[in-house]
Amino acid sequence: MAYCFIKLFVLVLGLGYLMINEVEARAFFVFGDSLVDNGNNNYLATTARADAPPYGIDSPSHMPTGRFSNGKNIPDIISEYLEAEPTLPYLSPELRGQRLLIGANFASAGVGILNDTGVQFVNIIRIWQQLGYFEQYQRRVAALIGPLQTQQLVQQSLVLITLGGNDFVNNYFLVPNSVRSRQYSIPDYVPFLITEYQKVLERLYDLGTRSILVTGTGPLGCVPAELALHSLNGECAPQLQLAANLFNPQLTQLINQLNSNFGCNNCFIAANTNAMHLDFINDPQAYGFVTSKVACCGQGRFNGIGLCTGLSSVCPNRDIYAFWDAFHPSEKANRLIVQQIVQGSEQYMHPMNLSTVLALKPIETKV
Ligand SMILES: *[C@@H]1O[C@H](CO)[C@@H](O)[C@H](O)[C@H]1NC(C)=O
Ligand SMILES: *[C@@H]1O[C@H](CO)[C@@H](O)[C@H](O)[C@H]1NC(C)=O
Repeated sequence: MAYCFIKLFVLVLGLGYLMINEVEARAFFVFGDSLVDNGNNNYLATTARADAPPYGIDSPSHMPTGRFSNGKNIPDIISEYLEAEPTLPYLSPELRGQRLLIGANFASAGVGILNDTGVQFVNIIRIWQQLGYFEQYQRRVAALIGPLQTQQLVQQSLVLITLGGNDFVNNYFLVPNSVRSRQYSIPDYVPFLITEYQKVLERLYDLGTRSILVTGTGPLGCVPAELALHSLNGECAPQLQLAANLFNPQLTQLINQLNSNFGCNNCFIAANTNAMHLDFINDPQAYGFVTSKVACCGQGRFNGIGLCTGLSSVCPNRDIYAFWDAFHPSEKANRLIVQQIVQGSEQYMHPMNLSTVLALKPIETKV
């Protein structure tokens, strides 16, 4: 009797596994800062948040979601490309059961590579805690589909990680004589950040992921917030540009080194988001923008002073602005960036673009 019961139980469990394994799409995991946060900070007591109008004005509900965009952000558009639902924030109560198999978004606005970046935002999910949540996620999925299938899901997944901007903007340049700026010159700070980033990326590999898309920083000195502070005629702020110009090539070098250390030529993929942004910063009209200097939502010079709030001036057509707010691209700009990530030439994607990487790694489901 007991034996029969166990057999039946195993059968039901087996059928459960079979059904769950019919998930065809690749799981997608997102780590990083406000450029990729899908709403985790909505659940936290922090000032780094985008949960009030006019954020989300062009989303399907026209309501704010916690994304720092008028509509979709970079992870959402990558999800579209994967033909998957957008990833839910890891802290969302809706992220449970089958929905866990789509992946998860662990990103939190305000964080950086360094633990001390974003202290002013108080309660944010620092990168090492994001990785801790990813371990917890894997345990939850293992309870659902078993440890082997979980390992396979993680191995076949795509990871996006976006970090670094806040380590410069908020931890180095925000206040004059910041602790970090007294400790390091920019040419010394960059290798320090790269060394710390290496530990984060190695940990992602150790946690089982094998397709890790790493974006560099954009042209930090050209965002409306920095133009408002440092620019007379709209020229990019030189110190922040120096930082971005040193950080991005050293990050690509790190990617090469990690691929070679792990004996895997396409586990880490560098996206040159600096070059992608510069294209439309240098020639906005060619990409359908009226300006790349003035934010759609904000106030003051370049609409770059303070936050985007219900009291800000908001442009009527978000598609003709490269920047939605003082720091973050519009959905339209995010689409241009993802197009290059997916299909771009070697000038943008190293060692290869995303469509090539994923074609080399077809999804298999072992049962
Ligand atoms: C950052 O925090 C993590 C986890 O708390 C810790 O393991 C790591 O050593 C810290 N990094 C530095 C540079 O202090
Ligand atoms: C994407 O990468 C593949 C392989 O490297 C290449 O053949 C293709 O031309 C790339 N796309 C573009 C637009 O360069």
